[in-house]
Amino acid sequence: MTSTMTGSVTNAADQQDLRDNMFPVDREIEVDQCEVEGEIPPGLRGMFVRNGPNPMFEPIGKYHMFDGDGMLHGVAFADGKASYRNRWIRSRGLQAEVKLGRAAYPGLSDVMNFPSPDLVGDAGPVKNPANTHIVRHAVRLLALWEQGLPTEIAPDLGTVGEWDFAGELKGAMTAHPRIDPRTGEMFFFAYNFFPPFLVYYVVDAAGKLIKRVELDLPAPIMMHDMLITEDYSVFMDSPIVFDMEALSTGGSMVQWKQENGTRIGVMPRMGDADSIRWFEVPTSHVQHFWNAWQDGNRVEITGCRFEQVDFGIETEASDKESGIGEAGGVPARYWVDLDSGDAGSEFFDDEMGEFCRINDDYTGIKSDKLYMSGFTRPGARGGDFDTIVKYDQATDTRTKWYSGDSGHIGENVFAPDPDGSAEDDGWIVNSSHDSATGQSEVLVLDARDIEAGPIARVQVPQRMPFGFHANWFPASE
Ligand SMILES: [Fe+2]
Repeated sequence: MTSTMTGSVTNAADQQDLRDNMFPVDREIEVDQCEVEGEIPPGLRGMFVRNGPNPMFEPIGKYHMFDGDGMLHGVAFADGKASYRNRWIRSRGLQAEVKLGRAAYPGLSDVMNFPSPDLVGDAGPVKNPANTHIVRHAVRLLALWEQGLPTEIAPDLGTVGEWDFAGELKGAMTAHPRIDPRTGEMFFFAYNFFPPFLVYYVVDAAGKLIKRVELDLPAPIMMHDMLITEDYSVFMDSPIVFDMEALSTGGSMVQWKQENGTRIGVMPRMGDADSIRWFEVPTSHVQHFWNAWQDGNRVEITGCRFEQVDFGIETEASDKESGIGEAGGVPARYWVDLDSGDAGSEFFDDEMGEFCRINDDYTGIKSDKLYMSGFTRPGARGGDFDTIVKYDQATDTRTKWYSGDSGHIGENVFAPDPDGSAEDDGWIVNSSHDSATGQSEVLVLDARDIEAGPIARVQVPQRMPFGFHANWFPASE
């Protein structure tokens, strides 16, 4: 084991988002061969990487889980064996703080209180912790944070630096781009506090940014995910509105404005601002979609639907403890009929969940197998999942695996079986943490039989704190 960077958080102020398994780890390690319970399938070759917040220094002021420095945890699978490493993402802001030996950037609750350039040099007024997701497109691994540029990551999880698509991307990039597995193109957006409130981008299969479109929205909103079909890009304009006043007067920086309603926007993938059509649907929000596809002139959408959202992003002046509200969304369909203009939504289950994932080879075409991180224990906090859920829309069935009374799981990532042909021929890879034993694991389940539970459990050689999104990067690519 080698230790290359160390952290010094103590949570002296006993902040909620640093308690229990949200407390960061303080070192980077590498272990060539992890202990494994069960058998790693020989076809599972590649790397599972999970991103998440892991502050290196004691936070200044109020800390929200969205604030922490990004840390990548990678488990590489080959020849039935698994290795582990974790690396902080060396953002410009973090490097400036390392020089100082302490935190210099406030969290989201006080984000406008920019550190002086005397302290942080040219690292900029806001830290881009790159802590939300990681994707691979046109060879590049990109760690994502929705209010900043993507951060390029090396195959060994070292940080290359912020990537602006050779100078073409001037603003932020969502943490949830959509990559068309058939064309290799990547589609994404950025939201802004000031007009243009939404900007849409297309990157070609070679990684060149080839399209930028400013889209009109009635209000500055927090948009987290988008969709593609074979012909269209699809957006949801829901009423999570930025309240710039709150930044100076206290209260939540994002407000749910029921009266603004929810609309679905459908535009040709290579269309312009005039080509987007908006369709009203029941007032609701989807943080993460499963998928969208075309059925004749209908666009079908699946995702976990929230009736209202509270991210608990409170300003310094607010005395409310930070914390995400409603634990999860509820599985739902939305549809838009492009001919009649009819649009709507209906639930297809009543269980709460989030972190919707599919076999990404089906992005933009009809997919029947939907994976969700769910809850079995009552009263769970948002993001504290304990159950792997699979829906099969072809047979209208739901199967589950519960991780146990002290189990906590993350996002279900689908790793396709290179010898498989069916949509669920492959494995679900997920991270887990047992709060009774302190052991973290990376789990492998046969995606065709979730109820059977893990067929392999990789013992992660240190605690893996609560995190956000994960992905699978096959070795062959
Ligand atoms: Fe997300």
